[in-house]
Amino acid sequence: MTSELTGAALTAQGKQRIEWAERDMPVLRAIRERFGKEKPLAGLALSACLHVTAETANLLRTLQAAGADVLLVASNPLSTQDDVAAALPLEYGIQVMAKRGEDRDAFFSHIRAALERKPRITMDDGADLISTAHKEYPDAALGIMGSMEETTTGVIRLRAMAKDGALKIPVVAVNDAKTKNLFDNRYGTGQSTLDGIVRATGALVAGSTFVVAGYGWCGKGLAMRARGMGANVIVTEVDSLKALEAVMDGFRVVPMAEAAALGNIFCTVTGDVNVIDTDHFRAMRDGAVVCNSGHFDVEVNVKSLGVLAKGEPREVKANVREYILSDGSGKEKRIYLLGEGRLVNLAAAEGHPASVMDMSFATQALAAEWVVKQQGQLRPEVYNVPAEIEEYVARLKLASMGVAIDVLTPEQERYLADWQEGT
Ligand code: ADE
Repeated sequence: MTSELTGAALTAQGKQRIEWAERDMPVLRAIRERFGKEKPLAGLALSACLHVTAETANLLRTLQAAGADVLLVASNPLSTQDDVAAALPLEYGIQVMAKRGEDRDAFFSHIRAALERKPRITMDDGADLISTAHKEYPDAALGIMGSMEETTTGVIRLRAMAKDGALKIPVVAVNDAKTKNLFDNRYGTGQSTLDGIVRATGALVAGSTFVVAGYGWCGKGLAMRARGMGANVIVTEVDSLKALEAVMDGFRVVPMAEAAALGNIFCTVTGDVNVIDTDHFRAMRDGAVVCNSGHFDVEVNVKSLGVLAKGEPREVKANVREYILSDGSGKEKRIYLLGEGRLVNLAAAEGHPASVMDMSFATQALAAEWVVKQQGQLRPEVYNVPAEIEEYVARLKLASMGVAIDVLTPEQERYLADWQEGT
């Protein structure tokens, strides 16, 4: 999301949006209040490489209240909300190094600066901070007592490092917590991806053929929401079980080679490379809209689209690039790429709603506290979020929504523990 404002007006808008997000983050607010009293991260340098959004600002405020000395850098060059980046240092005294649209050099220079201050705790969204630490700053890596990872792609990278024996620090897979992926990946991605597509294009989703590549939690959420808006949803998959799940959820499942000629809107959420590739572009209809909501900008082969296109692509609207191709019969067709093939929900909209980030970031904050409490006892492995943290976050979220649930009676507890009961 771009902002036209500058200076004091930009900062004021950032503060307003951070406060607006805070309203919908009751679990994080409760944690911030406790952290303010107990200071569990007192005096610790903490570097976070996350999307610079109003929701992330509230996480950083929570970590600051816990006594940490925090610095925030971007986890994607196009996801930074410049108003938030302006408000954080001026209104909350939190250092930020990030600018929307920063180039690769600036992006990595910020990541390097985040490591050069020798953080004791880190937070990552996509594992760029930790992988740069291991490649370029082995000393800094050794000083990190633990790191948190926010996204599926990052956890996959970290598990690969652990498998190779390359991981030097303990990492908590926040992404793998149910309080994260069941809600943020599914409902957050579902809603914010459609928000990005609609803001960028103004397309009518009803009646369109909407192709979702990948049926993990993000793909499930996106397919469900696109169907809810009246699209004919096609799912593509490489995993038999996930494909079967999509079929039984009532979606049409076909290979991308077939879907390419059918879709009006395509969105990748796979975590893999070149899921939409040269032959798929060749098969697409005139006016096809193509975007990605996976972490890295590798899922749509943008380079190949550029090679197929006649001349240079044209920015026809904010976040919409038009590529003109020959349709094979002497006529022209247009393909529209959203947000340069980067995360469309953050490039063209504001990311997931605060209410769902509340759970993800409450889990992040409590995982950081847990790492500090475990100091000296964790090994360089990928850890799951402790069950008590997940239970606590879910309980607080339900309470904030005014939802009460039943409690097992002593008789029911005994029954569940008794293996001798039966027919
Ligand atoms: N990832 C997806 N949506 C987000 C948001 N609103 N803030 C931070 N990270 C996000």
